[in-house]
Amino acid sequence: MQPPPNIVLTGFMGTGKTSVGAPLARLLDFTFVDMDRLIETREQRSVRRIFDEAGEPAFRMLERRLVVELSHNTRQVIATGGGVVLNPDNLQDFMRVAMVVCLWSRPEVIVQRLTTDTTRPLLDRPADKLESIRSLLEARRACYESVPRRIDTSDLTTNHVVRQIESWYRTFQP
Ligand code: S3P
Repeated sequence: MQPPPNIVLTGFMGTGKTSVGAPLARLLDFTFVDMDRLIETREQRSVRRIFDEAGEPAFRMLERRLVVELSHNTRQVIATGGGVVLNPDNLQDFMRVAMVVCLWSRPEVIVQRLTTDTTRPLLDRPADKLESIRSLLEARRACYESVPRRIDTSDLTTNHVVRQIESWYRTFQP
């Protein structure tokens, strides 16, 4: 059985999509695409500034357009932004052309990984960070759980997660 031509890593902020995606792409000799970074490069402004100046719906539209574009390419490991799952069309498109993996972590672990982070507009209130993470995660739980391949990265090393995904890919079963 031929595996699909791409791997997509999705999941909540701070679950390790970029940290895992870059070494996984090197291992498979695939191109690594970080959707947020690519949007920032093309827009010549940060995700935060896009949210502030154009609003979240405008960011979601840029995200949507990029999903459509990337769905035409092959040999990519794509790290999505955490909200890509909010539009079911995005997941549906990626499912056709990629092995999609959802990374998951406990909110307490996510908050630690993002303590000093100031780049996520949806987690702006530092005093309430854990609470914001909990409620956003709950609101999105069904979207993330709709992805059949999921890994809880809370207690795993990056290398372990990379090897697990590589093994799923090499022995791919639909
Ligand atoms: C978002 C996650 C961020 C980024 C934007 C919105 C979200 O990406 O796309 O801040 O809605 O979960 P990361 O998951 O890479 O942090």
